[in-house]
Amino acid sequence: MKKETTISAVFEETISRMKGDGVILLAGDPPNPMTIGWGTIGYIWGRKIFTILVRPSRFTHALMEKSKEFTVNILGDEFRRQLSLCGTKSGRNTDKIKECGFTLENGICVKTPFIRESHIHYECRIVQENELLPEKIAADIAKRYYPAGDFHTVYYGEILGIFKCSPTL
Ligand SMILES: Cc1cc2nc3c(=O)[nH]c(=O)nc-3n(C[C@H](O)[C@H](O)[C@H](O)COP(=O)(O)O)c2cc1C
Repeated sequence: MKKETTISAVFEETISRMKGDGVILLAGDPPNPMTIGWGTIGYIWGRKIFTILVRPSRFTHALMEKSKEFTVNILGDEFRRQLSLCGTKSGRNTDKIKECGFTLENGICVKTPFIRESHIHYECRIVQENELLPEKIAADIAKRYYPAGDFHTVYYGEILGIFKCSPTL
């Protein structure tokens, strides 16, 4: 059972998992899980915002464009296999929910579901998106991360709810 929580209660864990094996972005109808590692959490426009970066080549990119919302699901160490699978296979030709054995539950604030096996999840609606501008990126970053020109789209998701498993009494 999850309870609503605050950014400060889950920030450290979210950032360290993004830096490690990643977290699961879920978007679309039917929903497709994709591992992400790049993003930030903070306040813009007086709102809590989860900023994530998705390359246009990802199947998830078209789903984000259509659904205009997403969930971010934080999973424990025992889900390393699933995080790797969702970060290497594409929803274009794989049913990743099935292969991972994930159970989906209805979102509380958005139509997109969350992964029941996650111990923390964020529910977000996209309030802004923009493309990275090649001419504005430092040359060393462009050279290292964008040799094929597949510049990310940056999505700003207003965090409508953050939910965390509460320890059983
Ligand atoms: C640890 C990890 C982190 C990743 N982070 C991102 C990311 O932040 N943005 C992105 O566009 N792709 C990222 N990827 C790559 C996608 O997860 C991968 O290309 C995936 O297969 C795309 O799935 P889809 O085609 O079903 O959308 C990451 C992969 C891994 C393994």
